Amino acid sequence: MNDYHLQTIHTRESVRSGRSLDWQHQPEVFKCYPPKYDDVSLAGCLQIRDFLYLSCGITAAKVYPGGRYFLRANPSAGALYPCELYVQSRNEPELADGIYHFEPLTQRLRLLHVPEPGEGLEGYLRQQDMVDGLVVLVTAIYYRSSWKYGQRALRYCLLDGGHILGAMEAAACCTDRSCSWVTRFDRQGLQRDFGFSTRELPLAMGISGRRCSDQIRRPRMELEYVDGSGFFCRDSVIEQAFTRASSLSDCRRGQYAGRPYSVTKTELKSTILRRRSIREFSGRPVSLARYRAVRDMIGRKVAIDCDEDIQVFSVVHRVVGLESGLYVDDRCLRKGNFAARAEYLCLEQPLGGDGAATFFLVGDSENYLALMLKAGLLGQRIYLASGLQGLGCSGIGAFYDLEVANFLETGNLILYALAIGI
Ligand SMILES: Cc1cc2nc3c(=O)[nH]c(=O)nc-3n(C[C@H](O)[C@H](O)[C@H](O)COP(=O)(O)O)c2cc1C
Repeated sequence: MNDYHLQTIHTRESVRSGRSLDWQHQPEVFKCYPPKYDDVSLAGCLQIRDFLYLSCGITAAKVYPGGRYFLRANPSAGALYPCELYVQSRNEPELADGIYHFEPLTQRLRLLHVPEPGEGLEGYLRQQDMVDGLVVLVTAIYYRSSWKYGQRALRYCLLDGGHILGAMEAAACCTDRSCSWVTRFDRQGLQRDFGFSTRELPLAMGISGRRCSDQIRRPRMELEYVDGSGFFCRDSVIEQAFTRASSLSDCRRGQYAGRPYSVTKTELKSTILRRRSIREFSGRPVSLARYRAVRDMIGRKVAIDCDEDIQVFSVVHRVVGLESGLYVDDRCLRKGNFAARAEYLCLEQPLGGDGAATFFLVGDSENYLALMLKAGLLGQRIYLASGLQGLGCSGIGAFYDLEVANFLETGNLILYALAIGI
């Protein structure tokens, strides 16, 4: 059992004792490198631009009396967007070799470093095989989330990171690129060489390219620290939990099983661009075929180097042709209408009970980082599969952990919940 996960459970008492938000120290959501780093346009790199844009680009803006904020291709707990993306290009026809930072707001890159021949981000991996193509590093600036969610924020950073991996998977399908993920690499070396300090946590790397046999050394670079949140309050519980969560061992390699999405690129792309979290369900039922289409997407293989088992419980309340009740992996455990119960369990959020079904992703592993990233990745598949079926979806990171576990009769950790419906 992961101690951090148990320390950060929600209970009726913890939620009611509530934290008040420090509006004076609200973090920034965009990291901007100073002008001394070259600003690189992606105008001539349409495939790479689309790949990055569909992974985490800005897809909507919301105006409120004090200003406006942006929503992205990836969902994020509280719309706080802790994650940043760095990209290494090698032998890409469209983009010069280099290590870049991707700016979602401008859809441009900042060139941080040009590695010498034989050097690159592959040097931080356990197998230092050269990648002809892109290596994408996903990090999280945890204060952007801990500002609001306190110590529970590491859960959200990992789930958010997993959502980006899932968004990258779909973006790869739209742009005819390959994509797999690596969770085992030298994080401390990266934190030092990128100047992240312990404020920015390296979560995972995406490999979109061809692996070759040449061995690559890490780049000789020492980037300066660049602030990515404006304010920052250190949280040693989060930092220590991250160190433990990212020491991964006895990993089982996930199998690559082809592209999970079988629709056309145009259909998938427009679903990504339209994706939003549903805020309210109508309470109308959905067909069994649509529900199954979403359910089936979850079980497809994940091409990750540390593939942890996740059980999917489903509380079904409004699916035509499927008796209401609690299911696990399509097996009915208990019949009955548990919509009100599911709403309560999701911290009394109506979203938890007003949809067609509420999924609870459950697992337990010492490899906590890999487990949570996979939960987020599956969450992104649920969002996009729902969109493709004309259904709405919302991630639900706030739930009464122990009461959910009692309801599901599981001794494992409750990682994430998602509701789908119309
Ligand atoms: C990990 C995670 C947890 C979330 N938890 C909740 C939640 O408990 N309740 C809720 O209403 N929305 C939740 N959301 C949805 C976010 O509020 C939403 O993604 C964010 O506002 C951005 O909006 P968009 O998804 O429409 O782009 C969650 C999203 C993620 C990724």
